Amino acid sequence: MDSIGPIRVLVLETEPNIIANARAALEGDSRLVLVGTVSDQASLMDKLGSTYAHVAVIDLAGLRGDVGPAVREVLAHAPECCVIVTGSNVAPGIVSRAVTAGARGFLLKPYQPEDFVSTIRDAYVNFQELRRLQRIERVPGTTSRPGAVIAVYSPKGGVGCTTIATNLAVALARRSGKSTVALVDLDLQFGDIGIALDLKSANSLADLLNHVDSIDQQLVDEVFVKHASGVRALLAPENLASVPSIDPDRVARVVDQLRPHFQYIVCDLWSSLEDLTLATLRMADRVILVTTPELPALRNLRRVMSATGLLLQDDRTILVANRVPGKAGISLNEIEKGLGRSIAATIPSEGVGITDAINRGMSIFDERARAKAGGSYRKLADLVAVGLEPAAVSRARRPVPATS
Ligand SMILES: Nc1ncnc2c1ncn2[C@@H]1O[C@H](COP(=O)(O)OP(=O)(O)OP(=O)(O)O)[C@@H](O)[C@H]1O
Ligand SMILES: [Mg+2]
Repeated sequence: MDSIGPIRVLVLETEPNIIANARAALEGDSRLVLVGTVSDQASLMDKLGSTYAHVAVIDLAGLRGDVGPAVREVLAHAPECCVIVTGSNVAPGIVSRAVTAGARGFLLKPYQPEDFVSTIRDAYVNFQELRRLQRIERVPGTTSRPGAVIAVYSPKGGVGCTTIATNLAVALARRSGKSTVALVDLDLQFGDIGIALDLKSANSLADLLNHVDSIDQQLVDEVFVKHASGVRALLAPENLASVPSIDPDRVARVVDQLRPHFQYIVCDLWSSLEDLTLATLRMADRVILVTTPELPALRNLRRVMSATGLLLQDDRTILVANRVPGKAGISLNEIEKGLGRSIAATIPSEGVGITDAINRGMSIFDERARAKAGGSYRKLADLVAVGLEPAAVSRARRPVPATS
């Protein structure tokens, strides 16, 4: 996976000229952002909590003792942080002690700014990839297998992300037969999952933001609201005024911490490619990219796919064409050619789907419920689940194209 979007870097360094060089190097690369500099280990530990650094670059000269315990202390506070150690005149054994303790990179001084930047990027990307593989490759059948995050995204609004996210969540819940599917409304501004599922709640994502790192089952039970299908929904905040101040990294951490509580966490994203969208796309185990067979939707998608490098090009990504056949007469072939990617699943026009049926108290097999799309959502759910369900791990790891 490519490390697109700003990687948050915290630097522990004692020499002012090296701090200035590091700052200049990071400012010169839009994919990285310096979130703080400190000159001793105690301040590093303080800052880790408040900056949500993705990467901590720590220099040996700023540590109060040996490198091993220092790296372990960082990781005990911030297990998802990627630690890189720097140092000059390095004594034998230090590199291996740093790496054994969990450091993901080592940079000898003096170094060039481009080496500084590329070491951070490479270490972080490799670290993310390792985490992703660890999630997917957990031993089948273990109860500790964390839940999979499924992001539903389109860079063009109104193409059906919310419809697909809700119907997919219901289809996954039917598949797993338990209350193990979360549907999280990450369209913080105009989220309408509550409307789609006909649910109301006084609680929302905002209630979890003050409990990052301490989300337990009781809190999940309180804040999520249950739909008749078994899907548990986390609604967007009612109060629009609070939205601009919501820290995207904090939201992403909340989503990550839902993993032990659910088998699937389906996230409905807004179309804007901002920090929260990027953070969710980066952490997702599956990305459902939605398009309709219309030029504006295709054009936006092509732009975003090329602007984000590998982020939307890897195996995690499933391209879904909604509302096919479309009125504009663009064929599936033309979509595939234009995007350079095959369509993995299609949803028919008028395929508003199975939540509609359930909300109206009908069986999803009821013709009146316009549930013809039920079959395509079931297929999409099967496709998403490949490689994510314990029993499927040894059979296949990659999504395979489906017909609908
Ligand atoms: N396959 C479909 N057939 C017919 N109507 C559909 C289909 N998919 C979605 N719609 C309708 O299109 C409208 C937009 O869908 P939806 O809200 O799911 O899109 P969205 O991408 O989430 O939009 P937004 O950018 O507003 O969040 C809704 O009225 C929905 O019922
Ligand atoms: Mg929507």
